[in-house]
Amino acid sequence: MARKKIMAGNWKMHKTVGESVTLVEQLREALAEVTGREILVCPPFTALYAVAQALQGSNIQVGAQNLYPAEQGAYTGETSPKMILDVGCSHVILGHSERRQYFQESDQFVNEKLKAALGYGLKPVLCVGETLEQRGEGRQKTVVSFQVERGLQSIPAEAMKDVAVAYEPIWAIGTGHTATPQQADEMHATIRNNLSGLYGDAVAQDVCILYGGSVKPGNVDELMAQPEMDGALVGGASLDAESFVRIVKFQS
Ligand code: PGA
Repeated sequence: MARKKIMAGNWKMHKTVGESVTLVEQLREALAEVTGREILVCPPFTALYAVAQALQGSNIQVGAQNLYPAEQGAYTGETSPKMILDVGCSHVILGHSERRQYFQESDQFVNEKLKAALGYGLKPVLCVGETLEQRGEGRQKTVVSFQVERGLQSIPAEAMKDVAVAYEPIWAIGTGHTATPQQADEMHATIRNNLSGLYGDAVAQDVCILYGGSVKPGNVDELMAQPEMDGALVGGASLDAESFVRIVKFQS
């Protein structure tokens, strides 16, 4: 089965409700004819409901950027998978390097979040990636393999049809330094290999592995031409309609 490309925008902590709705109205119109590719936008929590409403009946899906792994309770400031589903999300980004770095999220916590997401029928995008220092020491494959294996601990093979992995080298996020298509493809092959070891080849072949880190209109075609590239997780360049539209409509 050929993997369908997933083109996702991670808006991070950007855009008010009004700005979010304006952006998705532009995207909705400009991307209406796109078929055969999954399109996903991940606005901040405050805009999720309005964005999901504005995109009803469109070919663009909505995701959250995080969740807390409990249904409800005394967790001030947190958001449960049930609430995320309730506002119209289908996906959730988990284990983004900014959360690992600034909020000390461990692989084990990310794994709990994945289980919670899947338990509610939300599709997780598990983010993994090495630092510049780790790459400098030649440890990128070990680091990323460990994150994949720990992040997916006890997740059964049947659930993997709903899981995507995003390889995001930390040194490429928001820096303008993109991994070369060959570097990215090599890491994607490593991740595919990890998935094969965990779940067998047939399951591993169907999992989408996205690339993230300074994806732009000017480099997306070359990146997406690599055999192991199943899509992109785009930060900065997803905040502008024209730029994200060009990325979603990459030519390979
Ligand atoms: P960037 O961010 O495209 O701005 O580098 C990617 C990400 O962090 O998901």
